[in-house]
Amino acid sequence: MHDRYGPPDVLRIEDVEPPVPKDDEVLIRVHATTVSRTDCALRAGEPFFSRFITGVRRPRQRVLGSDFAGEVTEVGMGVREFTPGDRVFGIKPWKFGAHAELICMHERAALADMPVGVAFDEAAAVCDGALLALNCLRPGKLRSGQSVLVYGASGSIGTAGVQLAKALGANVTAVCNTANLEVVRSLGADAVIDYTQDDFTKNGRSYDIIFDAVGKHSFAACKSSLNPGGRYLPTDGLRNMALAVWTDRIGDRKVIFDLPPKFMKRDVVFMRDLMAAGKYRAVVDRRYPLEQVVEATKYVEMHEKLGNVVLTVTAETST
Ligand SMILES: NC(=O)c1ccc[n+]([C@@H]2O[C@H](COP(=O)([O-])OP(=O)(O)OC[C@H]3O[C@@H](n4cnc5c(N)ncnc54)[C@H](OP(=O)(O)O)[C@@H]3O)[C@@H](O)[C@H]2O)c1
Repeated sequence: MHDRYGPPDVLRIEDVEPPVPKDDEVLIRVHATTVSRTDCALRAGEPFFSRFITGVRRPRQRVLGSDFAGEVTEVGMGVREFTPGDRVFGIKPWKFGAHAELICMHERAALADMPVGVAFDEAAAVCDGALLALNCLRPGKLRSGQSVLVYGASGSIGTAGVQLAKALGANVTAVCNTANLEVVRSLGADAVIDYTQDDFTKNGRSYDIIFDAVGKHSFAACKSSLNPGGRYLPTDGLRNMALAVWTDRIGDRKVIFDLPPKFMKRDVVFMRDLMAAGKYRAVVDRRYPLEQVVEATKYVEMHEKLGNVVLTVTAETST
């Protein structure tokens, strides 16, 4: 819980009344969740203007956490898709609250059965990165056979972006630092570039799509590395919103930035099917027990994590 915006230390553990599912909701015992960049931004109240949505004086959502994986323990009278005992995963994007032992979800929300053989801690680390990456790649109209460069390929969105671009039939070049090259290659990247050794904007190669999965690059710097008709897909930045409008009218290289992101059940189902087919795996850097949420958050805020940081809420993480 947190009652005010501030550093990770504003977070604390507290007992609250358990939620009660409505007729169209399921009650889920959460086994694992994650600490994401969005959790950190919400807790810090940054950027400041975001407080006009999240609460001006204090946060409206006192419990953070959007990703989750767990077990259905109770269903409302009108629920048809799930029964108690089902192992499920998904995302609770706008209301948060997944850093908890129990949550309620509408059965038609971004929630699906877990594939057989996947552990709770891995399933919990899928949706935030993957659904945000899909939100960028789909409007970018990525087609099979196109060349995609993923910048920041070692982050939560980046590790998802590499695998999704590959699953969608692209030829993928992943850019990250030396330490993460092998992991990123193991996710299916056709080529890797170590940004500490090689500046891809100066190596003479060009791509149909450049996906800046970590928000550290710019359209201006990437433009000459885009093929004619190429698209630059950012993950954040007010400037990129303006550039998306501008390049929609002028020039043949476009910035595509579709906001707000959508978190749909059909995308969670898509991710479940990809995992079941062995075409996707969440990258988990570290696991912390829920009680160590402050330490986990401090690590995420170093901006050096490889993939995702998981909070284990109950001990059971087996398949
Ligand atoms: N559109 C949305 O709704 C939305 C929602 C959430 C987040 N975001 C944005 O999405 C972006 C990524 O989020 P995330 O959760 O995926 O991040 P993340 O997991 O925290 O990213 C960490 C990774 O980025 C790499 N990195 C850091 N600086 C880098 C640089 N200069 N060049 C290349 N790689 C670098 C780090 O590796 P090394 O430093 O070791 O190389 C680390 O592996 C952020 O810009 C965030 O603001 C957007």
